[in-house]
Amino acid sequence: MRIIVVKDTEEMGKKAADLIAEEMKKKTSFVMGLATGSTPLSLYKDFIRRNKAGEMDFSTVTTFNLDEYVGLEPAHDQSYRYFMDENLFDHVNILKENTHVPNGMAEDIDASCQEYEKMIDEIGGIDYQVLGIGGNGHIGFNEPGSSLGSLTRIKTLTDETISANARFFEKKEDVPTQAITMGIGTTMKAKKVVLLANGANKADAVKAALEGPIASICPASALQLHRFVTYVITEDCAAQLTLNHETV
Ligand code: GLP
Repeated sequence: MRIIVVKDTEEMGKKAADLIAEEMKKKTSFVMGLATGSTPLSLYKDFIRRNKAGEMDFSTVTTFNLDEYVGLEPAHDQSYRYFMDENLFDHVNILKENTHVPNGMAEDIDASCQEYEKMIDEIGGIDYQVLGIGGNGHIGFNEPGSSLGSLTRIKTLTDETISANARFFEKKEDVPTQAITMGIGTTMKAKKVVLLANGANKADAVKAALEGPIASICPASALQLHRFVTYVITEDCAAQLTLNHETV
């Protein structure tokens, strides 16, 4: 595992964009796995800057988002589809039909989850998966206790995650209690993974993920088995690590 420690959130986004841009150069078409939340915002800002500067072309990029709330229409301002349009897709030359977010309004959720997984496999898999991490070690919406081999499916959110995400809603009761999420097994199939984390409030989760045992209590710890994972984290987030790391 590669651990890159950066001084702030802006550097975190730039460094992650560098890693992905380097990989994009090797392929004529590229499949990205994308995350929502506040963490990847600096990465998406950097993608937009590079796209506008003519340094990064999204016309042959296909994306698959990690997760979506069950019961929120794509037009709902807290849906992850809305978030992605607002923060990335509407600002780069990506074809909207090549952007995929799980369908939280599907009538048959199980079938739509299987279909999502199949689409990823049929396109040849994800070239680069972007991840954030929850304070409890979750990735996507794979909460503690999730099967480490899980594929895309519906999950019930923990009270901790609902409380953490309540800041984006008017009140806690408005936060959906379920979500569709790619599984940990889906993430493990990605060719490369970059996990971003910033802030002292993520230091415990990052420590457990990197230096704790591989265990479903910390879903991100499964990445210890991945062949190509890079953590790009801020100094305050790395404060508890004992492993050697690169400093940028
Ligand atoms: C959310 C998302 C995750 C995200 C995490 C951290 O619940 N489902 O994909 O990584 O929580 O969010 P933030 O980046 O806002 O701290």
